[in-house]
Order: sequence, then C-alpha cells, then structure tokens
Amino acid sequence: MPGSQGSAAGRRRWIYSNINSAVRLLIEIYVRRYPLGPTKRARIGAGRNLAYATRVRSGPQLRELSAEQFIDELDALAEIYALAMAAPAAELPGRISIMERHAGHPAFRAVVAVQPGEQGRHREPDGAAPADRRALIGFAYGFHGLAGQWWHDVVTDSLAARRGSDAAGHWLGDSFEFAEVHVHPDHQARGTGRAMMHALAAGRPERTAVLSTPQGQTRARRLYGSLGFVDLLPAFSFPGAGPAYAIMGAVLPLRGAPPPGDRSASPSLW
Ligand SMILES: CC(C)(COP(=O)(O)OP(=O)(O)OC[C@H]1O[C@@H](n2cnc3c(N)ncnc32)[C@H](O)[C@@H]1OP(=O)(O)O)[C@@H](O)C(=O)NCCC(=O)NCCS
Repeated sequence: MPGSQGSAAGRRRWIYSNINSAVRLLIEIYVRRYPLGPTKRARIGAGRNLAYATRVRSGPQLRELSAEQFIDELDALAEIYALAMAAPAAELPGRISIMERHAGHPAFRAVVAVQPGEQGRHREPDGAAPADRRALIGFAYGFHGLAGQWWHDVVTDSLAARRGSDAAGHWLGDSFEFAEVHVHPDHQARGTGRAMMHALAAGRPERTAVLSTPQGQTRARRLYGSLGFVDLLPAFSFPGAGPAYAIMGAVLPLRGAPPPGDRSASPSLW
C-alpha cells in the first residue's frame, strides 16, 4: 500500500482518497447502468419506484398535455395511478395500453398537476434534468363519449335497460367522459382533484359529464357529488365482474366552475 511506511495522517489520506475514487466509480457504473429516461424506465413495477413528489409545499400548478405528450408521460402517470389506487404492478401494463388507446379518442383532453420547485425524476437521455419538468403529483383526462367505445356502449346499454332510452340519451347522447382522476396520496385533500376536474370540464361543449368510480363512501364520491354528479347506476358491475362501481353523471358546467372567460384557473401548456 503506497504510503504505508508514512505517518498515520498519510495513511488516512490514502484510505480516504481511495474510498472517494471507489464511490465515484460505483456511482458512474450505477448511472450508466440505470439511466433515467422515458424509454429506459421499467413499465412493470412502476408503483414501487416513485422517487418524486414526496415533499410538498405550495400549491400545485396545472398543465394541459396534448395527446402526444400524454403518451410520452404514460409511465409517470401510471406510477401516480398505482399509488393513488394501490394498484398491483401486474395491472399497470394493461392500464397503460388502455390509456394509450384513450388518447386517440375524439376531443381528448388531459391535465397534470405539478409541484413547483421540485424536480421530477424525468431526465433527458444524457442525464440532464430539464428545467421545465417538475414533480408530477396528479393527472386527469377525458374525451368525448361515442358509440363504439367500450365503456360508452356498456353504460349506455345498461342505463337504457334500467332507466329507459330517454335517460340513456340524455346522459350519454352528448357526454364528456372523465376517464381517470388521480392524485398522489401525499398530496390529496388539498383541492388538486377538484381543480383538475374543473380544468378538464371548462368550456366543454357537451351537455353532460359522466364517469364511473368504485362504489362506497370514498373521497372521490364526495368530490364528485360536490361538483354536481348524481348516481345514474349506483351499484354497477362491468362485464367480467370485478368490484361494484357507481356510474355518475352531471349536467355541464360542473357545480362551482369558474365563470366562462375566467382564465385564472386555466392550465398552462406542458
Ligand atoms: C379522488 C381524488 C382524485 C380527489 O383528489 P383530491 O385532490 O384528493 O381531492 P380534493 O382535495 O380536490 O377534494 C377532496 C377533499 O379534500 C377537501 N379539501 C380540498 N381542499 C382542501 C384544503 N385546502 N384543505 C383541506 N381539505 C381540502 C375537500 O373538501 C374534499 O373533502 P372530503 O374528502 O372530506 O369530501 C384523490 O383523492 C385520489 O386520487 N384518490 C385515490 C384514487 C381515486 O379514488 N381516484 C378516483 C377514482 S374514480
């Protein structure tokens, strides 16, 4: 060992400098082996891995995503979904492909909530952190419901069977479908879900908004009720069984919506 014949201080310096080099080498190997980037992140098991959005502090900001941007962010959105819904990792690939398909539906609109002042785990391929990408803490999206879409057809048929074709036509004949609304558990109950729903519904031309949500006295159900949603089919099972859902509908605009022309709550672009 170089310096072994020197003083104790010299030996310590030699040890520290070698530890330093070893640590630097290990970090370099790790960074090369596990670069962070949309194409490199593992899709499966995404919920285990959320390295952002744990320290809060001031209000989140809303950003609107194009369908292409939404598809680019699917892995990160699935992580929020997994945490908000406590969804098993095995469910995520299927969920991601459903969301990808939804992005192609007519009049698709998506918003995300980002926490200012915190960097997310997004990185450019070269490892640089883009300045405008902050911690994602929530997302919501929807689209115009149309015949031929699975959810739309199942719900329309069931509503017609249980409440008549006039009711089905009223609620689903010209509807905006809220497909997903999720907020990271560390950031719930601070108004983010409500703000995202208002942002999605603002200025929509449809007569109604519709959604499905797990049955029960949940925060989601209370939030939807306060926005004017009522139960259309309170105990509904989608084909293939699974848990019971409530199908809910509201006449647009949502209750408590900012007046038309008020841009203060509008999301900016991603
Ligand atoms: C449902 C969900 C999207 C709502 O988003 P959220 O940001 O938590 O909801 P909000 O903060 O806008 O409103 C919900 C509650 O917070 C309360 N709240 C809102 N702002 C608040 C504030 N500043 N301080 C205290 N409470 C507040 C609301 O009054 C409401 O209270 P309630 O739960 O007693 O009725 C979110 O909780 C979530 O992701 N849940 C798990 C996943 C889920 O259920 N998704 C929907 C599936 S259909």
